Amino acid sequence: MRLTVFNGSPRGTKSNTDILINSFLDGFMRSDGNTYELAYLKRIKESNNFIKLFQATEQVLLAFPLYLDGPPAIVKTFIELLEPLCGRADNPGVGFIVQSGFPEANHSRWLERYLKKLASRLNCEYKGTVIKGGVEGIQALPALASRKLLRSFYKLGKTFGETGEFDQQIVRKLAQPERLTKFQFWRFNLLGKFYWNTMLRKNKAFGKRFDKPYS
Ligand SMILES: Cc1cc2nc3c(=O)[nH]c(=O)nc-3n(C[C@H](O)[C@H](O)[C@H](O)COP(=O)(O)O)c2cc1C
Repeated sequence: MRLTVFNGSPRGTKSNTDILINSFLDGFMRSDGNTYELAYLKRIKESNNFIKLFQATEQVLLAFPLYLDGPPAIVKTFIELLEPLCGRADNPGVGFIVQSGFPEANHSRWLERYLKKLASRLNCEYKGTVIKGGVEGIQALPALASRKLLRSFYKLGKTFGETGEFDQQIVRKLAQPERLTKFQFWRFNLLGKFYWNTMLRKNKAFGKRFDKPYS
């Protein structure tokens, strides 16, 4: 199976998206004969090549983070570049990974509907959308803490490499929690405040945390 993966994070090779993609690809490559190309949408000078890569493959995986409750601008630009391919009979199958900082999957559900519609307008077979929240801190945590997450992405890639489909059981598990309970929300708020205040202090911006530059 030929797979092209598009990494839609503005952080490129240093992104959380890349970490998840690499685990997925480790699993994907377990099947004999599978090959892949990995393209970074932040390299906008290569955008002509993105279309060619999209057309020349059997399966496409578009993976990106949630930025301000939507896709990063480079992802939207990429989607608009695909317009000439709308409705073509020989388009590849397409699946998506949307990962975010907030732990709840429901932040990304509207995007899932949008991506499903996108696949249908392109006349691509829709492979589904993997939603994973709570990814923000994975690079700051010890390797052990993200082992389970990366293992899930490895297994997801392995099944995809064997069947061309996402394992729905893994997809469902990754999307937990759909919504936080009241207690989880309180705990998240507390930890979040600590995390963000540390970041603000590190960037010498703590004193400006209530500023409203646009009001
Ligand atoms: C500019 C910006 C906006 C973000 N907006 C959201 C958001 O609306 N919801 C959310 O859950 N996470 C948000 N995040 C957190 C990212 O989705 C999260 O850290 C993700 O893992 C980053 O992935 P990346 O390293 O692949 O870019 C935002 C992060 C940045 C830098």
